[in-house]
Amino acid sequence: MSSHPVPPEQNSPARPEPVRRRGPVTLTDVAAMHRRGEPLVMVTAYDHPGAQVADSAGVDLVLAGDSAAMTVLGYPSTVEVSVEEMLMLTAAVRRGLTTALLVGDLPFGSYEVSDEQAVGTAQRFVKEAGCAAVKLEGGGAMAVSRARAIVQAGIPVMGHVGLTPQTAHALGGFKAQGLSAERAREILAEALALQDAGCFALVFEAIPTELTEAVMPRFTVPVIGIGAGAATDGQVLVFHDLLGIFHDFTPRFTKRYGDLRTDMTDAIRAFADEVRDRAFPGPEHCYHMPEDELAAFSRSLLPQSRRAATSSGA
Ligand code: KIV
Repeated sequence: MSSHPVPPEQNSPARPEPVRRRGPVTLTDVAAMHRRGEPLVMVTAYDHPGAQVADSAGVDLVLAGDSAAMTVLGYPSTVEVSVEEMLMLTAAVRRGLTTALLVGDLPFGSYEVSDEQAVGTAQRFVKEAGCAAVKLEGGGAMAVSRARAIVQAGIPVMGHVGLTPQTAHALGGFKAQGLSAERAREILAEALALQDAGCFALVFEAIPTELTEAVMPRFTVPVIGIGAGAATDGQVLVFHDLLGIFHDFTPRFTKRYGDLRTDMTDAIRAFADEVRDRAFPGPEHCYHMPEDELAAFSRSLLPQSRRAATSSGA
C-alpha cells in the first residue's frame, strides 16, 4: 500500500463540473443539462424529511413515486394506493423541497378511463401538491393519448416504459422487459410515441442494456434509467432501496448506499435498553425548577397544619 494515498477525486473518473444552480430546477434546466450531457439525478421521496434530505444532497429531480404504496404504506403492490394518499404524500414532499424539480406519479386507476380523467388527476397533482410535472406508466395507445392530453392541458409529463409496476400482472410479473426482439421493438415504439406525444422525459425501467444502448440515439428528450444500464441520460433510484430502509426484497437494479434499516433498528433497540436499564433520561435531558420555586412548591404540598408551622419557623 502506498504511503501517499490517492485523493478520492483523483481516484474516480473525470466528472464534468455541474453548472451551479441558484434557484429551483426548472424544465429548462433539465433540458439544458441534457444538452450539455450532464447526467440527471432523480430519487424518489415520500415525505417531508425525505424530500429535505434529497434536496440537500443536490439531486435534480424528485419523484413522489407510487412506489410509496410498498415502501411507506405497506401495500403488497403499487396498485392499491389512492389519489388521495398520493396527494397527501406528494404535498409533504413539496414542502420539503427548495431546489429539486418535483414530479408527481399518477396512481393506478387515476388516468386510464379517459383523457378527461387523466387531465383532471394531473391538475390535482399540480394544484394540490405543487408538482411541476406528472409521470404516468405505459406507452400503448391509451397511455400515449393520456400523455398528449395532459401535455396539451399545459402540464409536463414524464413517460415510463419497460417494466411498469402498475400493470406488472399483464407483463408476466416483476421481471425485466424487452428480452425478446419483439418486446424490445414494442418498448422502442412505445417510448418514441410518448416522445412524440410531448413528454419532456422518459423513464426506462428494467430493460436490457443492449436495448437501451441501441435506442438511445433516437431520443431527443432525456431518458432516466432504473435497471436500464448506464447509457441513459440519468438514473433514478427508490429512496428506501438506496438507503437500505426497505429490506423486503432487492431488485437487481438497486444499489444500497446505506443500511439505514439496521441503523434505525439499532438506535431504537439502544433506546429501549436504556429505558429498561433506567439509563435514559440522563440529567442533561431533564428540566429543573429554580430552588426557591421548588421550596415553595414543596411547602404547598404539605398539609395546612404543617405548612403554617413551617412558615412560622416552628
Ligand atoms: O414509483 C416509482 O418509484 C417509480 C420509479 C421506479 C421510476 O416509478
